[in-house]
This record gives sequence, structure tokens and C-alpha cells, in this order.
Amino acid sequence: MENVTYIDHPLVQHKISMLRKKTTGTNEFRTLVEEIATLMGYEALRDLPLEDVEVETPIETCMTPMLAGKKLAIVPILRAGLGMVNGVLSLVPSAKIGHIGLYRDEETHEPHEYFCKLPNPIEQRTIVVTDPMLATGGSAVAAIDFIKQHGGKHIKFMCIIAAPEGVKRLHEAHPDVQIYVGHLDRELNENAYICPGLGDAGDRIFGTK
Ligand code: URA
Repeated sequence: MENVTYIDHPLVQHKISMLRKKTTGTNEFRTLVEEIATLMGYEALRDLPLEDVEVETPIETCMTPMLAGKKLAIVPILRAGLGMVNGVLSLVPSAKIGHIGLYRDEETHEPHEYFCKLPNPIEQRTIVVTDPMLATGGSAVAAIDFIKQHGGKHIKFMCIIAAPEGVKRLHEAHPDVQIYVGHLDRELNENAYICPGLGDAGDRIFGTK
């Protein structure tokens, strides 16, 4: 599928397996999520634009590439997406951070925005949307709908574990969005949990239950 990248790096795969263990505690879980986000971010940001700038080394002056502008926005989908922010931020400390919160209507099951605050202006920025679990794809599609309504154009979506259903739905709704997946799992169960998955990512990151 064009615009969908599976990160098959052994370090990412090892760390995802550690996340899956039900004996992995909150502290370790949080650290692993951050580390995976850094490793995935390294891959997801490989097309950031560069420009040659003049730099004086101890030897001579040269033209050398640096990131063109400070134009990255990280937008976690609340709440689990927050766990990935620092991992990406460690790569691009100048990134601005937006937030998007969604709740699911109990009757229609449709996601609704309850909070959306994005760096302004958003049009020129590369936007990295984070959510560790891409399950049905409903939240990811809705979040990206909202970001596009606010003017967002260059959007990447990073998740640690995805269900095939979620990847398909997100890709069909937003074929222009580059999707980065740490591991593609087997399926969703009847409660929309990813199998084998890792349970509820938000609860495991924040130690709630
Ligand atoms: N969200 C989670 O946190 N876990 C799942 O398995 C699916 C959605």
C-alpha cells in the first residue's frame, strides 16, 4: 500500500515485544513507548527538507545542510498519543506541539472533537500525528479530518501497533497521509482491542485502570 511504511527494525520489534508483556510496569512501558517513538520518528522524518547554510568549522568555512526552518508540529491524539511526544521531540526539540482530543458518541459511536489546539499557522508545517494504537482507525481518521479542516496539509501518522482494519480505513480516508506502523497485528476483537496487542495503551502509559 503506497504511503504505508512498516518499521521492520530489530530494535523496534524487540521493544514492541517488551511492551506487549503484561508484566511490563508503567515506568518501563512509558520509557519503551518514548524510545520506539524516537526510532520510528528517525524513519518518518527522513524526508524533512534541508537547506545549505554557511558554517565556520575550526578549519574553514563551508556550506553544509541543515533542517530548513523550524516547521514541525507533533500532534498527539489524547490521551495515549501523549506518550510518544517526547520521543519525537528528542529528535526535533524545536517542534511545536498541538493536541487533539476526541470522544466517542455513545449512540452513534462516531468520534467528536472536544479539544483541538494546533500551532498557528499550521499550513506550512509537517505534522506528525501520534497514537500508539491504530485499531478501527475511527479516531485517526477523525483527528486528521479536523487537522485538515484547520488547514493542515503535510501530515504523517505514527502508530506503534496497528490492526489491518485500521490501516485500511485510514489509508482509504486519507491516501495522502504517510502512515508509519511499528508492527501490524492480526486483528481486532469484538471489543475493538488489537490482538495480540498490548491492552489499553493509555492505561499502561499512565498507570490507570
Ligand atoms: N486502543 C488501545 O489502547 N488498545 C487497543 O488494543 C485498541 C485501541
